[in-house]
Amino acid sequence: MSKAREFARLPGFRDFPPEEMALRNHLFDVWRRVSRRYGFLEYDGPPLEELELYTQKSGDEIVGQLYNFTDKGGREVSLRPEMTPSLARILGERSRAMPKPIRWFSIPQLFRYERQQRGRLREHFQWNVDLVGADGVEADAEVLAVALDGLRELGLGVDDIRARVSDRRLLASILTSIGVPESSLVATYAVVDKVEREPTERTLERLTEEVGLADEVSRQILELFREPELERVARAFAQDPEVTRRLAEMREFLGTLEDLGLADFVAFDLTIVRGLAYYTGIVFEVFDAQGEFRAICGGGRYDDLLELVGGEPLSAVGFGMGDVVLADLLADRKLVPDFQRGVDHFIVVIGDEQASLARRVARALRDAGRSVVYGVRGQSVRKQFSAAANEGARDVIILGPDEVARQVAMLRDMASGDEREVPLAELLDPKPQTGES
Ligand code: HAM
Repeated sequence: MSKAREFARLPGFRDFPPEEMALRNHLFDVWRRVSRRYGFLEYDGPPLEELELYTQKSGDEIVGQLYNFTDKGGREVSLRPEMTPSLARILGERSRAMPKPIRWFSIPQLFRYERQQRGRLREHFQWNVDLVGADGVEADAEVLAVALDGLRELGLGVDDIRARVSDRRLLASILTSIGVPESSLVATYAVVDKVEREPTERTLERLTEEVGLADEVSRQILELFREPELERVARAFAQDPEVTRRLAEMREFLGTLEDLGLADFVAFDLTIVRGLAYYTGIVFEVFDAQGEFRAICGGGRYDDLLELVGGEPLSAVGFGMGDVVLADLLADRKLVPDFQRGVDHFIVVIGDEQASLARRVARALRDAGRSVVYGVRGQSVRKQFSAAANEGARDVIILGPDEVARQVAMLRDMASGDEREVPLAELLDPKPQTGES
């Protein structure tokens, strides 16, 4: 026989033993509940797609992280690194026949071959919420409100999280006004995106050398991003009609969020650009308020993507919220619910003669919707009681020869230790249980 070999998990992948699974289910439950509260319907797509769906639309960063391969039929395919291209493809096939706007959500598992680091793995689950076929900043605000309500429902408050919002068209109009040529805009975005994380000198060097901007233009960009408050930007570009128009939209967006009671959760931040290539308007990211963790959520408006993948031209806005950083933040804030493994009843038999009765009682209780566990054959009574405690049983049903002879069982409440007799007839014909216990 060959020697046994140990297998480890692949780097960047997770196991979900019951405790971890409980947290994952908790997140999913909250995400589903909040989605439905806003009228969104759940959908899904395949985890494997044609490679080109991503190489064309998602932007270089994500393309470098694809889990792609040639399948046995010679097709170039990739595990999905994000949901938005699949959503665009799915709607491309069917949106013409659908009433607008379309409110859809999904919780896919996604795969990116990233360098493993805190908050970034090679697989994660991502809550995707997208509103398709609705123009205007009310739609953008509605989508961001879903994200923030999802986080509030998990117990996070205004001291814990902040949505940082910007608008790519506003950024483009400001950069154009400063003198950045149109052909250098995308390269400039990539530098602006990292402005907070890189030293000033490095940003300047990238703007002049990599993007090729004039020294004076680069310095103006740096100056602007040092204090990019909305009013300061408005004053500096008061003469520029395009910037002024975009700023008015931004104010309307912020005003809508104020109506929705979320103003304190939101901050204008011109450095938010987003890595993905398809965004066309308002963009946002949600971070922990202290800025200790990586982004929890990112999204924005993408009005061209559906048409680009062959669908009808439809505007769209949405976000993706990952489970990895969120779980770290919830643990940090002590907001992870206690793990509950409790079953309703554990049946203890004093002797093997009661085993058949135990199974009949279990059948009747389970049919009535209760959770029931009993010990393995031949276990001592002491072992059965410790098994009941391990299972977190609410009560123990004890079947002993004397009680059974009198057609009763002893019921012990595990929390209080109180014992009382119950007729066997009641256990064998219990009232059906409604709802969760
Ligand atoms: P994204 O910014 O690439 O956007 O990802 C959204 C969120 O997913 C991130 O903020 C982060 O929490 C989580 N995430 C991303 N990559 C990883 C990773 N490697 N490990 C753990 N968590 C990760 C999108 O994917 C867009 N498609 C979202 C969207 C939907 N935009 C419009 N609709």
